[in-house]
Amino acid sequence: MTEATSKVRLVRMVMGVIGAVIAGGGVIAPLVSHETTTIAVHHLLHAGMAVGAGLLALSLPATRIDRERSFWIWPAVTAPAIGVLLMWPSEYAHLISHPWPHSLEHLSIVLVTLLAVYAAQAYVRGLGWLMLVLVVAMDAACAGGFGVSPGPSFLLNPVPRHNATASRARPINAVKKAITLHAMGANLYNTMGCSGCHSVDGAKGVGPSWKDLAGYPQNLSDGKTAIADYSFLRTMILDPGKMDLAGYPAGVMPDTYKAMLAGPKHPHQTELNAIIWYINTLSNRAGKASEPTVPDQAAK
Ligand code: HEC
Repeated sequence: MTEATSKVRLVRMVMGVIGAVIAGGGVIAPLVSHETTTIAVHHLLHAGMAVGAGLLALSLPATRIDRERSFWIWPAVTAPAIGVLLMWPSEYAHLISHPWPHSLEHLSIVLVTLLAVYAAQAYVRGLGWLMLVLVVAMDAACAGGFGVSPGPSFLLNPVPRHNATASRARPINAVKKAITLHAMGANLYNTMGCSGCHSVDGAKGVGPSWKDLAGYPQNLSDGKTAIADYSFLRTMILDPGKMDLAGYPAGVMPDTYKAMLAGPKHPHQTELNAIIWYINTLSNRAGKASEPTVPDQAAK
């Protein structure tokens, strides 16, 4: 072995280890942290993970191009397409509150990137680098909202085009087109009338402001306190009659939202989760309420 080839080997090994560490970190990230970031920032994490997976793929000895190996074009083309499906927006709400499926989704993104980059490199030497740039650009583009669609429930129940004022044209349908959960939550805040009673800047209204609400203790009229975690916010929005906040009149917050947000037509409860997500982003303790449940805190 010449000195030059051993140098190349060393560079490859280092590249592979760095890539594996980055990709592995991205896969376990949803398990160790529930920090609430925006969806855009989260997609940039995907892009970083793809860089890691791509470096790992390029560090593997790729098969040289020859006619017999040209089948590598197939995984090189299909893998990125599968990658796009893995970031299907209607699953956001589910993934945000379920760390294990979320981690598994990250693992799939890593594997798909690994396959895409390796296959491209095996097809034509050098093409792997181009593929890496393409995949990372795709992830980064998702961060900008590109390619984010309203999801399958919208495709299955499209609002009739000529008849938008018919019974189906509820305000919720109008915001299904929103690009991010945060934007969807912010839209629902206005279209569902929450803004009439709740401010987002700390100003007191008929109801409490949503600023610095998520994750903070709430005083109830029976003298107890409860942390405004995910389940607290859920209960307050769906069954406001169940709890009464000290200093606010009971029975004023409408109890009609349950049917609009959690009825049989909303199996994924995407809109409800979008509102809670939005409330989260308005708090400097946002991480707290992204937990699906925090039973011991709620019990205190
Ligand atoms: C007519 C006024 C009104 C509207 C409209 C309204 N709320 Fe409320 N909301 C209240 C009041 C009053 C309370 C306090 C309830 C209590 O003490 O029982 C409250 C409490 C809450 C809380 C708990 C706040 C805290 O500080 O713990 C949440 C969360 C909430 N509302 C969400 C919503 C959402 C989401 C919407 C729109 C879909 C909405 N509200 C629309 C009046 C309103």
